[in-house]
Amino acid sequence: MYAQKADVPARKPVTVPLLRAMKAQGRRIVMLTAYDAAFAAQLELAGVDVALVGDSLGNVVQGHASTLPVTLDHMVYHTALVARGLSATLLVADMPFMADRDVPHALQAGARLVGEGGAAMVKIEGAAAHVLDAIAALAARDIPVCAHLGLTPQSMHRMGGFRIQGREPQAAERLLEQAKAVQAAGADLLVLEGIPAALAGRMTRSIAIPTIGIGAGPDCDGQVLVIYDVLGITPGKRPKFSKDFLQERGSVAAALAAYAADVRSGAFPAPEHCFD
Ligand code: KIV
Repeated sequence: MYAQKADVPARKPVTVPLLRAMKAQGRRIVMLTAYDAAFAAQLELAGVDVALVGDSLGNVVQGHASTLPVTLDHMVYHTALVARGLSATLLVADMPFMADRDVPHALQAGARLVGEGGAAMVKIEGAAAHVLDAIAALAARDIPVCAHLGLTPQSMHRMGGFRIQGREPQAAERLLEQAKAVQAAGADLLVLEGIPAALAGRMTRSIAIPTIGIGAGPDCDGQVLVIYDVLGITPGKRPKFSKDFLQERGSVAAALAAYAADVRSGAFPAPEHCFD
């Protein structure tokens, strides 16, 4: 058999300092989820900057209604698969539900995702005190952290479902404070999900670390989508914030290249993908 590596011309590896430089230079960051080596190789071919092994694998790969059943073993397994398909793309892996419940568990999870999985960064949802402690502890041990604010799917029961966050003035102010808090704790990247576009723009301008939006409008420093949405193969209704890039193109490679080009040019997300 053959390894699932893409046969692509060498490019400079995407690193954590490079992401910050891209924000400073106004170069948009392209991020996309992947769950196995074959799709990881397609991301590499398309020149995607950051691959995210999201716990969305609970929905799109495992067929669950939420991300809550995903375990650390699942995340480590899929992260290792994706790592084998990548060469220059930066690899981020999600901390699954409750893996960050205290600092020792967060450190153990981070060590496995980086050591066994091959991730360069781990993603943690929220900004509660224990999450800020986990971010600080991981960053102090040179495990870079991507924070995740707004519609955080692991909090679905508290939020009462998957609802846009930060529409009321008080909630908007809280999100602005949380963005500063995760940066102060040591996060190097911040995913903003399901937030009114204007608020995501304010959050992006208020911090030095790059923001990556999903349903958060065009004024983030980059964008992320679930790859199955980009390829139009997620069953059921397509989320408003996503786009099927395969529809008008003949191949997976062309669809992913179009996604990357549209994020870089600012053509995606368009107004119909955004929330007020
Ligand atoms: O799990 C995931 O895929 C995510 C992205 C949608 C941001 O967290």
